[in-house]
Amino acid sequence: MSDVLCIYYSRTGNTRSAMAEIAQALDAELVELQDGVARGGARGWLRCGMDAMRRTTKPIKPFETARPVKEYRLVIVGSPVWAGRCSAVTRDFLKRYGKELRNAAYVVTRGSENRSEEVFEQMDLYVPAGHQAAVSLRRGSVGYAFWQEEFLRQTRDFLNGQKK
Ligand SMILES: Cc1cc2nc3c(=O)[nH]c(=O)nc-3n(C[C@H](O)[C@H](O)[C@H](O)COP(=O)(O)O)c2cc1C
Repeated sequence: MSDVLCIYYSRTGNTRSAMAEIAQALDAELVELQDGVARGGARGWLRCGMDAMRRTTKPIKPFETARPVKEYRLVIVGSPVWAGRCSAVTRDFLKRYGKELRNAAYVVTRGSENRSEEVFEQMDLYVPAGHQAAVSLRRGSVGYAFWQEEFLRQTRDFLNGQKK
């Protein structure tokens, strides 16, 4: 049983691919979050933007993990960037579970050149433990593989430096 959990929300698949690759590289458990809100199409897009800007959330749907969230050595939280913030779905997860995370790392995916790294500090507001590693990825960009590998290196360094 893995003691690293990769948990994410993805609306259009970019965060899903990034997290699936990271979970495979770390032999980690992979879990997708949903909140049941209609987020597809133009109306859904608008809803996502409004939710992000207002920081409003709807309760995430129950999800299954092999062990309680607080027992993982590291929880890697993945989110798309919405209006310079984390997604509403990820925000609800952090609101509910942020305090339970022993160690956290963040993966955000974005659509623009702007790395939006301020999102990491925003996510930390829900996570007293802060984050051990973080990366902002843009699908199709030249640096994608490099930054993803750098994130994996930081994460492995952290895990290797930690006693089980
Ligand atoms: C409502 C909304 C707002 C967005 N705002 C930003 C933004 O501020 N900066 C950015 O770089 N990308 C922004 N994007 C693009 C997404 O972050 C990007 O496409 C991301 O990789 C999508 O991840 P997903 O496929 O996992 O849903 C936004 C997308 C949506 C739907």
